[in-house]
Amino acid sequence: MYQSQQKNIPKFFGRRKGRTIRCAKSTLLTDFLPHLRISETTELSHRMFGEPVEKIYLEIGFGNGEHLAEQALRNPKVGFIGAEVFQNGVANLLSLITGIKIKDELPETIKLSSERTDNIRIFDNDIRLLFKRIPDNFLDKVFLLFPDPWPKKRHANRRFVNPENLQELSRCLKKGGILRIATDHKVYKHWTLRQLHACPLFEWTATCGNDWKHEPSDWVQTKYQRKALREGRRAVFLDYKNIK
Ligand SMILES: C[S@@+](CC[C@H](N)C(=O)[O-])C[C@H]1O[C@@H](n2cnc3c(N)ncnc32)[C@H](O)[C@@H]1O
Repeated sequence: MYQSQQKNIPKFFGRRKGRTIRCAKSTLLTDFLPHLRISETTELSHRMFGEPVEKIYLEIGFGNGEHLAEQALRNPKVGFIGAEVFQNGVANLLSLITGIKIKDELPETIKLSSERTDNIRIFDNDIRLLFKRIPDNFLDKVFLLFPDPWPKKRHANRRFVNPENLQELSRCLKKGGILRIATDHKVYKHWTLRQLHACPLFEWTATCGNDWKHEPSDWVQTKYQRKALREGRRAVFLDYKNIK
């Protein structure tokens, strides 16, 4: 397992484990994840995927993995790196991409479901531990969708959008690459707008007063977005161009 701590990286405050992971999902984690996992020895390059890819996208905190799984299906020439600390979420992504459900009997060999390209690799830990290994100008796009809002003032230093992480994301992204942040939380929306306004490395791509209030054309709904909609909160979709 990848070292959970590195010097200078603040503690991770979210959940790593939730409900017991049962049956098939637990086997997916033990038997199949190692094939897709970015381990300490994986060299990050365009050749790390099972098929040749033209671009690389990163999703940070993919949750249950619906967005990542669907984007990877729609974009077979893009290699996707998904980072998620929460083991149940990683198990869910594996279930989506293999087609194996909780109660299914496991086949002798676990494989990606037949319509899929082998274009996802998983970092099942805190993305900040991977940053140092990502080469400069490596990424074409980064998704940070519904990050934990940590709305209390005293927890503001836990928010993912902060000057250090923006600096790293700008370095890892190509010039002109896109950082997409979505949130349904008022505090986090204002925080993000302020942080990015103060950051000379990114430029907001919004062209009119309202476009950031509508889902982008390539959007895939996530679990947290559906939860927010059920509870009457509408999300905003903020795309920033890396101008370093
Ligand atoms: C509020 S959830 C949103 C999940 C998903 N993006 C969605 O929209 O349904 C935030 C997720 O980010 C993950 N997360 C938070 N900080 C992270 C980090 N530093 N590295 C990797 N994952 C992280 C958490 O474990 C959690 O699953």
